[in-house]
Amino acid sequence: LRLPGPGARGHARLGRSGAAAQPAAEEPREDAEVSTRKKTFSEVQTERLDQAERTVLIKCPSKLNEKKLLQYLSSHGNVKSHFFFENRGINALIEFSEKSSIASLQDAVGIPSASEHHVVPFKSRLFTFTLKNPVSQRIEDSPLHLSPQCHIPVKDLIEKLCLADSISSQMYILLNEYQLTEENIKLRFLACSLVRDFACAYFPDSTVKPFGSSVNTFGKLGSDVDMFLDFSDAGKHATKLKKSPFEMEYQMKRLPSERLATQRILSVIGDCLDNFGPGCVNVQKILNARCPLVKFSHQPTGFQCDLSVSNSIAIRSSELLYIYGCLDSRVRALVFTIRCWARVHGLTNSAPGAWITNFSLTMMVMFFLQRTSPPIIPTLDQLKELADENDKHIIGGYDCSFVSDLRKIKPTKNKETLDVLLVEFFEYFGNFDFRKNSINLRKGKEVNKPESSPLYIWNPFEQDLNISKNVNQPQLEKFIAMARESAWILQKEDKTQQMIDKEPWGLAALLIPFGKSNSSKMKNRMKGIGSETIRSLLDSLKLNNANSQQKAVGK
Ligand code: CTP
Ligand code: MG
Repeated sequence: LRLPGPGARGHARLGRSGAAAQPAAEEPREDAEVSTRKKTFSEVQTERLDQAERTVLIKCPSKLNEKKLLQYLSSHGNVKSHFFFENRGINALIEFSEKSSIASLQDAVGIPSASEHHVVPFKSRLFTFTLKNPVSQRIEDSPLHLSPQCHIPVKDLIEKLCLADSISSQMYILLNEYQLTEENIKLRFLACSLVRDFACAYFPDSTVKPFGSSVNTFGKLGSDVDMFLDFSDAGKHATKLKKSPFEMEYQMKRLPSERLATQRILSVIGDCLDNFGPGCVNVQKILNARCPLVKFSHQPTGFQCDLSVSNSIAIRSSELLYIYGCLDSRVRALVFTIRCWARVHGLTNSAPGAWITNFSLTMMVMFFLQRTSPPIIPTLDQLKELADENDKHIIGGYDCSFVSDLRKIKPTKNKETLDVLLVEFFEYFGNFDFRKNSINLRKGKEVNKPESSPLYIWNPFEQDLNISKNVNQPQLEKFIAMARESAWILQKEDKTQQMIDKEPWGLAALLIPFGKSNSSKMKNRMKGIGSETIRSLLDSLKLNNANSQQKAVGK
């Protein structure tokens, strides 16, 4: 067995070991994954889910001889890949080549002695590895490589950004630091697969699949895992004998509504995780929400998880975003930048409330990229035109069809740099007529608002839903003010002077809460013209006069 090689992408990027900045020569210049990501969304999902089924997680002692652990495991089958990470101690994720290796391992491992606690005898794929004689086994040839599962702090990111040579490079650095690593993706799918083990106790045909940012290419290290219980494969194998005069079907419990069935299933699985799931803590059932769910912390993987029942439309929006994320290098770089910027300025928040969500922000970036000239990404209607028979999806009366084969989508002719796109994003939304217009990704057009919510973003599939219904007027105004201030900072700054003065410039300057910068120059700007600008901008917003708004941002 080979010792751990660098992960496909996790380690190849800029060092994550600390704030130490890398020389400019190593700066990423594009989203390296766009050129390699050619698989369809469902191909990736199937591959990852299968991989997770062949995977176990082992808690290890801090002094570990990697070779010995792998040697021990290989007696149960070939280890296809593995990595170590820190989470309440050292852990190893082990992917076997064959699923049968797990059964072999499970047969060989013991049950903990129950001297102090009574154990629930559920045999999972989570193990603890200990050394019988730690002293004699301590000799380790090289220290364990631990794969990072969280991103660097913003202040370390800012230091790195200051050494880049363009805003575009800064944005790709941010993307490389924040995006999910190969290892983190494996861990996310494993968390789903472990929950599936419980669901299968009741529903042997069910699967648990991740959706949302874990799979839509916009996931950030540290973000929650959204997962759903899927019964759609359950009926697939039923072969009805067409010519037979007989028919057989299951007797099943009938309930008055789908919602009630969802609530009952989630309630039982939630109890199961709470009572018997190793490391499943803080299990909260939120069954009365529009989309009922069970929230829990999964300590072995370190993820906060949201479990719901098959939500086909949410999966379609995950796939749509996956497609957009794969189309062009600039898409993910801009989304990660805007999300990070929004978080720093308190526009988004992990607690639910009237804040803009990351999902809404992502949709706003997509809409902006549809509005560039020429467009960088196609509209949903255009993607629908490219769909073939296999891409047809009608869900609950809504047509959710769009092309799944990335190769059928023509690359854009737009060559604009991210330096320009970032300013244009802030200008576009800084001047958007939110009072009158809504954001419609299906048409790629600004459309009259159908109702009075401050921010209206059409759900691309359920056309009568506003995905940003939660956003209130003050939060929207804060977003507009921050966008204008950011456009102003980017346009006015003197990069060369700021670099000489060792002041944050470009994206780095935008990631310091306005008014809290160490740079005296920026402080003055915020105290003086900046706050005035914000005030006048807010006033102009009330007037809702597009022309006067443009003057205020200094155009
Ligand atoms: N979703 C939706 N409509 C909403 C909110 C969410 O359709 N109003 C769906 C989207 O498919 C979204 C998924 O539910 O991707 C998960 O929602 P959420 O966790 O809020 O967003 P993420 O995209 O996962 O972003 P984050 O990284 O912030 O978790
Ligand atoms: Mg999420």
